[in-house]
Amino acid sequence: MKICFIMYPWHRIDPKQDSSIRIIHELVSRGHEVAITHPSNLTIRDSVTLSLCKTIKPQSKVSGNIPSFYKSVEFDERMRPLQEFDVIFMRDNPPLDALVLNFLDSIKDDVFILNAVDGLREANNKIYTAAYYDPERELIPATHVSKNIDYLLRIIEESENDKMIMKPLDGYGGSGVIVIEKSAMHNIKSLLDFYINGNKGKSNYVILQEYVEGAEDGDVRVLMLHGEPIGALRRRPLKGDVRSNISVGGSVEKYTLTKQDKILCKKVGEKLVRDGLYYAGLDIINGKLIEVNVLSPGTIKDINKLNNVKLQRKIADYLEKVVAKIHLEKASK
Ligand SMILES: Nc1ncnc2c1ncn2[C@@H]1O[C@H](COP(=O)(O)OP(=O)(O)O)[C@@H](O)[C@H]1O
Ligand SMILES: [Mg+2]
Repeated sequence: MKICFIMYPWHRIDPKQDSSIRIIHELVSRGHEVAITHPSNLTIRDSVTLSLCKTIKPQSKVSGNIPSFYKSVEFDERMRPLQEFDVIFMRDNPPLDALVLNFLDSIKDDVFILNAVDGLREANNKIYTAAYYDPERELIPATHVSKNIDYLLRIIEESENDKMIMKPLDGYGGSGVIVIEKSAMHNIKSLLDFYINGNKGKSNYVILQEYVEGAEDGDVRVLMLHGEPIGALRRRPLKGDVRSNISVGGSVEKYTLTKQDKILCKKVGEKLVRDGLYYAGLDIINGKLIEVNVLSPGTIKDINKLNNVKLQRKIADYLEKVVAKIHLEKASK
């Protein structure tokens, strides 16, 4: 099969840590054609969506060692219509430029896109999780999204707990996630004003969320493939930080899903599949869903190492199965 990765530039890949290179390596090892391209290369010519793609030249023997494979890769660079691929795998870093989705709209009925364009559009920021239907208040922490300072101040004043979490709507990698404390109320109005109106000319929504007890011990990242958990780890924050993200110094530990985690994954997994979010990373604290990461979730290398597995095999198996099914359906039409 032919797979195109729309992703960050090849030279930015750290082969020791990167998740995308592990998936690419597995696919190339199985003899599939892999091309990579960057969103800035997307082009429309005569109503056809193309991209300047670097196609990996076939190798007679693919190195089993990822850094050696990375170094050995040679490319054939040319414009290719995206419609000629079986799979498009979105592996760019957040934040997603929504215009990329407009380019993909024109081919979304012909190519299997991971994740689906409409799903990416819907889950492109933290409203997706905040608006998750949870009438019994079992799955997500109490969450408010607003840019109304008076409303948010009232929520903080009325909160039973001293601590709450505040974060920007479209942040990632832990950026801007802070704890606010009712006992330090004199700072809060200024903070809210900064988060909401700090960007001159454009006001922002913020998220105010119940502080989930147990967050001191870190959060759990679960990788979900077609609605099923395929691997997990715990991320522990640096001392003195509330954020467990690896990008801000969180460390990783082996983790086995609890019964409550599994129930959460099943419920959330069904929605992810309905929304075309076939590959996603859930952030869970104490059995509560904090965030759904749908654009290029990482941690494959760490989960592999902690559990002596190769998650990229499951991903390649999955893609092969999906594409075989699509070919069969096309043939029978
Ligand atoms: N409600 C919460 N209670 C406790 N800790 C939280 C909460 N929300 C976020 N955190 C901490 O901050 C980190 C980053 O928050 P998250 O919502 O996942 O945003 P990001 O997109 O920046 O990763 C989480 O992994 C967790 O460690
Ligand atoms: Mg997160």
